Amino acid sequence: MGTMTGSNNLQSLKYSSGDKPTLAVLDQLLIPHEKKYIDIPDVEAAWGVIRSMQIRGAPLIAIVALLGLAVDLNSNAKTIGELDAIKDDGDALMKFIETKLDYLSTSRPTAVNLFNAIAELKGVLQNAKAKFNGEGTIRGCLCKAVVQHTEFMLERDVQDNRHIGKFGAEEILKGKEGKVTIMTICNTGSLATAGYGTALGVARALQEMDKLESIIALETRPYNQGSRLTAFEIVEEKMPGGTLICDSAAGAMMRTKKIDAVVVGADRCCANGDTANKIGTYNVSVVAAGHGVPVYVASPFTTLDVSLTNGDGITIEERPSNELISSAKAPPSINCWNPAFDVTPAKFIAGIITEKGVILPEADGSFDVPAFV
Ligand code: MRU
Repeated sequence: MGTMTGSNNLQSLKYSSGDKPTLAVLDQLLIPHEKKYIDIPDVEAAWGVIRSMQIRGAPLIAIVALLGLAVDLNSNAKTIGELDAIKDDGDALMKFIETKLDYLSTSRPTAVNLFNAIAELKGVLQNAKAKFNGEGTIRGCLCKAVVQHTEFMLERDVQDNRHIGKFGAEEILKGKEGKVTIMTICNTGSLATAGYGTALGVARALQEMDKLESIIALETRPYNQGSRLTAFEIVEEKMPGGTLICDSAAGAMMRTKKIDAVVVGADRCCANGDTANKIGTYNVSVVAAGHGVPVYVASPFTTLDVSLTNGDGITIEERPSNELISSAKAPPSINCWNPAFDVTPAKFIAGIITEKGVILPEADGSFDVPAFV
C-alpha cells in the first residue's frame, strides 16, 4: 500500500504506508481560504488536531487518532526509543500501546467512532498477542497489527460511505419522479471522513445518478462547518443547485420551497435511534416535522452505540466560551453556553441510512439499532 488519501481531490488526510508511515492532515480551520497540511508525527499531535477541530467529523476523528498511533509507534524516534527500552515484554508493550489509546480517547467525547475504533483495535491487539507464534518479535507483531488494522479502517470508511450514498439515494428517490432537493447541516463530506462522505455522500450519489436538483447547506453556527466546509465541497464538486442558507432560514425555506428530505450525519446513534449530531440538527428536525419533510440520519455502523438505550446518556461536548464569542462577535465578558452537539429524538427520524441498508422505524417511532460489532 503506497500513499493513501481521500477518494477525490478533497483530501482530508495524506497517509503514506510502509515501514516508516507518515501522516499529514488538512487544517480545516483554514478552509476555504487556504489548503495547508499539518504533519502528525505522534499521538500528541493527533490529539491536538482533534481537540482544536483542525480535523473534525466523527469518522475522521477516529481515523486520524489511529493513524497517528500507527505513525507514532513505527516512525517516531522518541517512541521507538521507549519501545526499545521495553524490549520484548508482551504485557508491557500492550500496556504502552493501550495507554496511548486511552490518551487519544480524551480528545473529544461525543462521536462514538473514536471509542468504537479504540475498542476494536484493542481487540485486534489482544488477538494478535494471543496468536503470536514466536516468529519475529512480539513488538513487531503488535506494531504491524496497528498499521494493518488502521489501513483497513481507512479503506473500509470510503467503501461504507459509497454504500451509504447508494442506499440513501435509493431511499429518498422512492416514489418520486424527477430530481430531488436535499437539505443538510454541518459537514459530512470528504472532509469529515476518509472520502466521499456520509450525508453529503448521499447527495453525491444523487448527483452521480443525475437526480440531484439542489443541495441546501445550513451555515451551522457557531463553527460554520456548513458555510466553510460543505459549501467548499459543493463548489469544488460542482454540485447542482448548491445553496447556502443561515440556520434560521431552514423553516422559511421548507415553507416556501420544495425540500424532499433533510439528510444529516451522526456522532452517536443509540439503541432506540436517538441520535447526537451537530448542534442545530434537533431544531431542523422539529421544523421538518412541522412541514412533513422526512429527516434521514446517514450513519455508518462505526457510529452506532447500542450500549446506550436512548440519547439521555450521551455526553454532549461543550466547547469554550471564547469560540462562540469570537464567532458571534459578542462582547468578551458575556456568559456563554456552547454545546457542540444536540440529540434528535428517534421520533423525528424517518430512517437511519447505513452501509448495510436503511433502518426504518418500528410502529412506535423508535428503531431497533444493531450493534457495531
Ligand atoms: O464538531 P464536528 O465538526 O466534529 O461535528 C461533526 C458532525 O456533527 C457531523 O455531522 C458528524 O460527525 C458526522 S460526519 C460524517
